[in-house]
Amino acid sequence: MPLSTSLFRGGVLAALCQIALAAPPVAQRSAKRSTTCRQTEVVVLGAGVAGITAAQALHNASISDFVIVDRNDYVGGRMHHTTFGDKGDGTPYVVELGANWIQGLHASDPGAPENPVWTFSKKWNVSNEYSDYDSILTYDETGANNYTDVLDEYDDASDVAVANAGTILIENLQDTSARAGFSVVGWKPKEDMHKAAVEWWNWDWDAGYSMDKSSFVFGVTGDNVTFNQFGDNDNFVIDQYGFNKWLVGEASTFLAANDSRLLLNTNVTKVAYSDSGVTAHFTDGECVEAQYAICTFALGVLQNDVVEFEPELPGWKQEAIDQFQMGTYTKIFYQFNETFWPEDTQYFLYADPARRGYYPVWQSLSTEGFFPGSNIIFATVVDEESHRIEKMSDEATMAEGLAVLRAMFPDVEVPEPTAFMYPRWTLEPWTHGSYSNWPIGMTLEKHQNLRANVDALWFAGEHTSAEYFGFLHGSWFEGREVGEKVVAMIKGNGTEMESYAVLHGTTPYSHYTDLNGWPVSSFIDFEE
Ligand SMILES: Cc1cc2nc3c(=O)[nH]c(=O)nc-3n(C[C@H](O)[C@H](O)[C@H](O)COP(=O)(O)OP(=O)(O)OC[C@H]3O[C@@H](n4cnc5c(N)ncnc54)[C@H](O)[C@@H]3O)c2cc1C
Ligand SMILES: *[C@@H]1O[C@H](CO)[C@@H](O)[C@H](O)[C@H]1NC(C)=O
Ligand SMILES: *[C@@H]1O[C@H](CO)[C@@H](O)[C@H](O)[C@H]1NC(C)=O
Ligand SMILES: *[C@@H]1O[C@H](CO)[C@@H](O)[C@H](O)[C@H]1NC(C)=O
Ligand SMILES: *[C@@H]1O[C@H](CO)[C@@H](O)[C@H](O)[C@H]1NC(C)=O
Ligand SMILES: *[C@@H]1O[C@H](CO)[C@@H](O)[C@H](O)[C@H]1NC(C)=O
Ligand SMILES: *[C@@H]1O[C@H](CO)[C@@H](O)[C@H](O)[C@H]1NC(C)=O
Ligand SMILES: *[C@@H]1O[C@H](CO)[C@@H](O)[C@H](O)[C@H]1NC(C)=O
Ligand SMILES: *[C@@H]1O[C@H](CO)[C@@H](O)[C@H](O)[C@H]1NC(C)=O
Repeated sequence: MPLSTSLFRGGVLAALCQIALAAPPVAQRSAKRSTTCRQTEVVVLGAGVAGITAAQALHNASISDFVIVDRNDYVGGRMHHTTFGDKGDGTPYVVELGANWIQGLHASDPGAPENPVWTFSKKWNVSNEYSDYDSILTYDETGANNYTDVLDEYDDASDVAVANAGTILIENLQDTSARAGFSVVGWKPKEDMHKAAVEWWNWDWDAGYSMDKSSFVFGVTGDNVTFNQFGDNDNFVIDQYGFNKWLVGEASTFLAANDSRLLLNTNVTKVAYSDSGVTAHFTDGECVEAQYAICTFALGVLQNDVVEFEPELPGWKQEAIDQFQMGTYTKIFYQFNETFWPEDTQYFLYADPARRGYYPVWQSLSTEGFFPGSNIIFATVVDEESHRIEKMSDEATMAEGLAVLRAMFPDVEVPEPTAFMYPRWTLEPWTHGSYSNWPIGMTLEKHQNLRANVDALWFAGEHTSAEYFGFLHGSWFEGREVGEKVVAMIKGNGTEMESYAVLHGTTPYSHYTDLNGWPVSSFIDFEE
């Protein structure tokens, strides 16, 4: 279904936003229900990828009696864009604050599966460009300094470490930190800041956490499942209607404009649940009562007591929530009056002499294929640097980044930027971070406790995906799976999800298959 330009700008999106909050109450179906709350069969908490996909799974099974609730005024959640800078004609660029890459597209092997985010991006014409990680130049405090040989050194160590992690996984051996897993094969950056920068580029940039804080086995497996399966290309989205264009498009296939089942601008404060139903309470005193709820709130929301659960979530659930890690990934955008960096290069890696992860990666959008002539470049920081920088003023952060650029390009006069902006993901009450990471000591069983339903309350989101945590496609697969499980419950042949009240620290690899119905061996040896 072709969507006209205006539909995206004002139409579908605006229409989906302008929901009749005062829609006539749906007739009650059950006498024992409260008389004040709107009644529905399934309430989907969150209109990000997981929530919209779960609702679509209900729709696909001919269940139309659902309500989707989101505190924001758009469909997309962490697939979130804003306007920035100037195109030269007084109009701004659209840039992504959250998810930006389609990660893993479609492996060349015949019959290989396709990343659903790639499928939908093609279907809805989401503009994107191949990200060339070989288009990189290296810098330190002295300016340009060629240490690309260290990138090769890392790759060699990584090949051995990744194979070792596979052995640990398949033979059900003890997991360790990624730090230890890489040290064993001789990758020891110690105080070498070039090595620290290269390690950041390869690990922290993706995981959002350092090797010291990440699981070795699941950190490696997480990348393997996506990139061995869908191929290792990443495409960067530059669509001027935003990356969420595809999700808005999919939503429009089953939600009418102004559909009264989509409640945007609706802040959930409390979720009361039992084995016979769920009531979601909103800031405005309104509520929705349902037989089932699918909660897709980010891990950071669950960790930070933003929403009250009544009764409190059981210990096995809460401990899994508290252990899994919510990382932060912060993009810091600059626009200048000129492109003073090499304009044919996509990435610039900076090794600070004193501080690991200090404005380490600069990504040019002024390059062919992206926004040539835009003079836009952005830095990315994660984890502790994100927490630090997100507490600072725009002025202070802008000055730090500029000082780094002036160190990297000592031979040019780096001007003051004409535009500057960055999001503060750690402080957003609807996410409290960017995406999740697998910590040391989390087993597949404990992760399953993160996924499992508690009575009529079900969970989905990037963090509930054992295979694709941190990725958009993780949210999609989880949204579909949990949506289908709730369909089965409604149709009378469903089963509750397995959970483990007692944990023994074991991570039988076979649990991947048992718990998620996924033939793990097929991706580990996919390329063989
Ligand atoms: C900076 C950043 C970069 C990323 N880069 C990539 C990338 O390049 N590629 C990739 O694949 N993935 C990336 N990701 C991850 C990707 O964005 C997420 O995996 C995915 O968008 C999560 O979708 P979700 O539906 O699970 O959760 P969400 O998108 O968080 O959806 C949950 C919804 O719940 C709503 N909500 C929360 N609390 C409440 C409340 N109290 N009341 C009502 N509503 C509430 C929120 O508003 C939100 O819309 C990135 C994320 C970030 C933040
Ligand atoms: C996507 O673009 C193609 C080619 O420009 C066009 O034929 C098609 O209708 C577009 N699809 C949508 C959904 O806009
Ligand atoms: C619902 O069905 C449509 C049409 O077959 C399909 O494209 C979409 O992926 C399905 N959604 C889910 C969540 O299964
Ligand atoms: C950096 O050095 C490598 C050899 O280690 C060389 O292949 C590459 O071309 C050099 N890059 C630049 C930008 O000089
Ligand atoms: C990752 O994939 C490689 C290549 O297929 C494989 O050798 C390795 O065992 C895998 N490791 C893990 C932890 O999945
Ligand atoms: C949706 O609501 C808006 C504002 O109330 C209205 O202008 C528009 O016509 C509605 N669209 C449809 C398709 O009902
Ligand atoms: C949403 O609810 C939370 C508490 O549950 C509250 O702190 C916050 O202020 C509310 N936000 C809005 C916009 O009402
Ligand atoms: C950009 O601005 C600086 C002053 O801040 C100026 O010296 C420089 O010439 C300008 N560049 C262009 C291309 O206008
Ligand atoms: C449940 O029943 C439906 C038909 O009503 C069927 O399509 C589906 O496969 C069944 N699911 C399971 C898990 O048996």
